[in-house]
Amino acid sequence: MLTHAKIETSNTLMIVLTTLVLIWGGLVEIVPLFFQKSLTTPVNELVKPYPALQLAGRDIYIREGCYNCHSQMIRPFRAETERYGHYSVAGEFVYDHPFQWGSKRTGPDLARVGGRYSDQWHKIHLLNPRDVVPESNMPAYAWLDRPLKEPNIGANMAALRKVGVPYTDQEIAEAPKAVEGKTEVEAVIAYLQGMGLALKQSR
Ligand code: HEC
Repeated sequence: MLTHAKIETSNTLMIVLTTLVLIWGGLVEIVPLFFQKSLTTPVNELVKPYPALQLAGRDIYIREGCYNCHSQMIRPFRAETERYGHYSVAGEFVYDHPFQWGSKRTGPDLARVGGRYSDQWHKIHLLNPRDVVPESNMPAYAWLDRPLKEPNIGANMAALRKVGVPYTDQEIAEAPKAVEGKTEVEAVIAYLQGMGLALKQSR
């Protein structure tokens, strides 16, 4: 019989059995999440795939590393919900590939920043934060005021469709037109202004 003493004195047995326990524990914890509806379906009808311009803005957000200072996940604590609004739920991010939750907060959480400021405020703030928030230590992104070049926006959306984002053929076909003549900063602002609106009202 396999006694405890035997397992504890054999490296191989210990490693093999520990691995089996971890695999089993992981499966039990992770696999059910794939089938839990509240985690895989939009929380309400306001959660929609990102329109082309917002998607382009999201790509710039990732390119510029905004996530290094900003999270997009409001935790379910009073201090958080008083400041930012309704806590974040998984059903708000079903079309985010990859999601931008993060945990680093040099700046405020942005999960519900949509509609908090005007487009004009965002533009001034992004190009030079100190023009509107004198004590800000956020970097200036002055170069974002240049033409948006997204020749692959349609392909980008088609790729997202492969992983489950329900873009229509028409949306993909019209994507290049939707971003034509825009600047990078306009795309980022479109993305920011759309953030967190699905649960904005209900605090
Ligand atoms: C080095 C850290 C840092 C980086 C990188 C950074 N930010 Fe910030 N951000 C801050 C800080 C600090 C504040 C708070 C002061 C202020 O409003 O400027 C802030 C504030 C903001 C706000 C206002 C939020 C609110 O609720 O008042 C927005 C919007 C924002 N940042 C967007 C961005 C975007 C978009 C990027 C990437 C292009 C970015 N930030 C990159 C540090 C950063």
